Amino acid sequence: MGRIVGAYEQTSTAGETINAFVPKPLPPSNPPLAMDAELSSLLQRAETAIARLKLAGTMVPSLDWLLYSFVRKEAVVSSQIEGTQATLVDLLMYEAAGKAGTVDDEDVKQVCNYIDALSYARKQMRSKNGLPLSLRLLNEAHRRLMKNVPGSNKRPGEIRRSQNWIGGTRPGNAVYVPPPPHLLGDLMGSLEKYIHVKDTLPPLIRAGLLHVQFETIHPYLDGNGRIGRLLITLLLEHWGLLDVPLLYLSLYFKRHRAEYYKRLNVVRTDGDFEGWLKYFLEGIAVIADETVETAQKLFALMSDDRNKVLSMRATSVASIRLFELLPSHPIITIAKAVKLLKTTKPTAIKAVSGLIEAGILVETTGRRRDRVYCYEAYLNLLRAGTESG
Ligand SMILES: Nc1ncnc2c1ncn2[C@@H]1O[C@H](COP(=O)(O)OP(=O)(O)O)[C@@H](O)[C@H]1O
Ligand SMILES: [Mg+2]
Repeated sequence: MGRIVGAYEQTSTAGETINAFVPKPLPPSNPPLAMDAELSSLLQRAETAIARLKLAGTMVPSLDWLLYSFVRKEAVVSSQIEGTQATLVDLLMYEAAGKAGTVDDEDVKQVCNYIDALSYARKQMRSKNGLPLSLRLLNEAHRRLMKNVPGSNKRPGEIRRSQNWIGGTRPGNAVYVPPPPHLLGDLMGSLEKYIHVKDTLPPLIRAGLLHVQFETIHPYLDGNGRIGRLLITLLLEHWGLLDVPLLYLSLYFKRHRAEYYKRLNVVRTDGDFEGWLKYFLEGIAVIADETVETAQKLFALMSDDRNKVLSMRATSVASIRLFELLPSHPIITIAKAVKLLKTTKPTAIKAVSGLIEAGILVETTGRRRDRVYCYEAYLNLLRAGTESG
């Protein structure tokens, strides 16, 4: 390839002399990005798949609950990539009953923080007086992501002021040593500029370039993977490729994690932006297609089950209302049903029993108290790929 994408700067940290990498600003130059036939066709495939997903989003009767589920899926999987154990079921269990069950609640709280960071950022970008997609916005998202994370001080909301490294036990034996802290202001400034500059490269390509550049800079002490993946989501919305964050791209990174790391790394070592972009665009195409398919299956299931509920002889209005709430609350307790339906306990119990009778809800704990009810068929469709590991 022979493209030079940056330079090494010698710094010393913890008594060692090390070479920290300092990337050149985007876009790739000398030579510029090579749009060969393979890259062009992957780009086209990814663009078509995203457009289809966007259209699917406008055609569903209640986008809200689909969004609710898919945002949770992305949050869970993006957190899992770097070792969080919480699954989608843990998250929904925590939201329904206040405890996760099998994993540490701290793990689930980290996933909740991710959801909080995403919805905060989207709200800012959409409101007239909110922050635009910028370094400040990313910092604020980071502050929410890292809120109350136990252990060492991760400097929530702040660019790091010390040297970090990826892989290995110290900078001297690391896989990668990102830029020294005194250059981060300039580097993040150029990254922010590239988001807003007029560029002839297509937006999906630019999103891919920005993700790898962000990971190369590694501006925070922790949370770089999650904020970098959040950035992709925000960019797709910023450039109007999707109106809402329906794409759970992290699932692709998780499925091909070794290649994810390798591709990021080879951009720096060999200047191979093209190889990274091919991986990235393939991921967008694959996941966008899968997402459309999952949405269709969820809708088919919902309309079948709705018919079941409506055709039951003893069906109650409360059962019907509860059924319509299940897509965004596929795991519930009686207490939760009382709250959601704004009703009495006996009515909530009746609503739940109705849905059990219709074969829609299943009690999963086997306990006599603190029982938990799941919309199992729905969860099974949704949770593909979200188990930990
Ligand atoms: N060799 C590499 N070069 C650049 N970035 C990398 C490399 N290997 C991993 N990464 C990125 O670093 C992330 C991990 O950084 P970290 O700050 O711990 O993020 P998080 O806490 O969100 O997982 C990975 O998810 C990946 O995006
Ligand atoms: Mg980490």
